[in-house]
Amino acid sequence: MFKENILKGKTIIVTGGGTGLGKSMATKYSQLGANVVITSRKNEVINKTADEITNKTGNVVLAVQADVRKPFQNEAVLEKAIEKFGQVDGLLNNAAGNFISPTERLSYKAFDTIVDIVLKGTYNFTLAIGKYWIKNKIPGTVLSIVTTYASTGSGYVVPSAIAKAGVLNLTRSLASEWGKYKIRLNAIAPGPFPTKGAWDRLFPGAGFEDKLLNKIPLKRVGEHSELANLAAYLISDYSGYITGEVVTIDGGEWLAGAGEFNWLDEIKPEQWDEIGKSIKQKNKK
Ligand code: HXC
Ligand code: NAP
Repeated sequence: MFKENILKGKTIIVTGGGTGLGKSMATKYSQLGANVVITSRKNEVINKTADEITNKTGNVVLAVQADVRKPFQNEAVLEKAIEKFGQVDGLLNNAAGNFISPTERLSYKAFDTIVDIVLKGTYNFTLAIGKYWIKNKIPGTVLSIVTTYASTGSGYVVPSAIAKAGVLNLTRSLASEWGKYKIRLNAIAPGPFPTKGAWDRLFPGAGFEDKLLNKIPLKRVGEHSELANLAAYLISDYSGYITGEVVTIDGGEWLAGAGEFNWLDEIKPEQWDEIGKSIKQKNKK
């Protein structure tokens, strides 16, 4: 859906770019001509992914090991990216940690672990790159992957929910503050997109697929290419007048969950005949 090379000449850092959705979005950026830098804790994984993407797209991908929780490691990623490509233009905050659990079973450390990766990791990297852009008068774009429950909240993933809410607020707050430096910040709130990282940690066991699909009006999970296309648009100059925005891509899932009477999907068409008659009779009384 894009013109070839719309990201040519841009350098984009993707945190958590070695696996799952980060890998898919990094691949799309590289296909569109960007210099891509991927980073995560597992060196072997990011090196393998970098080679895979380069083989597919013909464009250089730099892999740099770092833990987003550690500010100096993020700064080192930025320095290596500048050294290799001359300038950095975009940051995709995608790294995350999450698992389902009743909140009262969590230790303080479990809470810290998720919040540190998701919220602290995102503001650490955003601050490092923002300082660099402002100092060097470079217009930049930050895109952060949140979730639909960043706005609604959700039980059983509470550390993730509060951290993603913080990321969304960071996006909106800095969109106002840093607009004058020509820095844009946006977010994407995906619904369920199958990845090993999420599926291993977010479902209680077999048989969840039907339950999940029934909650989604479009009755399917998302395809990685659908998210990658949106992420390409939002990091590109084509979205140049959009900032502080969050775009939901969830097949209608959260709205369906919010609508008080959407559960009436369970009523069969023939039952509606009887229900209609019964209500009309009561109307006459
Ligand atoms: C309760 C748990 C737990 C669990 C870990 N902990 N898993 N507590 N239930 N299932 C506790 C540990 O006991 C420990 O606390 C603390 O959390 C830290 O655990 P570690 O294993 O030491 O941490 P670490 O090695 O840093 O690993 C981080 C991680 C892990 C988040 C726990 O899962 C990870 O590396 N995740 C990265 C990838 C990921 O999560 N991807 C999914 C993103 S999906 P104590 O006190 O015992 O020491 C996503 C999508 C949401 O965000 C929306 C979907 C629709
Ligand atoms: P994933 O493959 O597990 O991706 C998470 C990535 O984050 C991994 O590559 C992981 O790499 C990296 N990471 C974790 N902790 C890190 C740290 N401390 N420092 C640096 N990198 C770290 O899962 P995913 O499903 O693709 O998730 C990607 C993003 O989409 C996340 O922000 C997630 O919240 C969001 N999301 C996913 C879904 C979905 O349905 N899949 C829905 C909504 C939102 P290492 O382990 O090597 O560090």
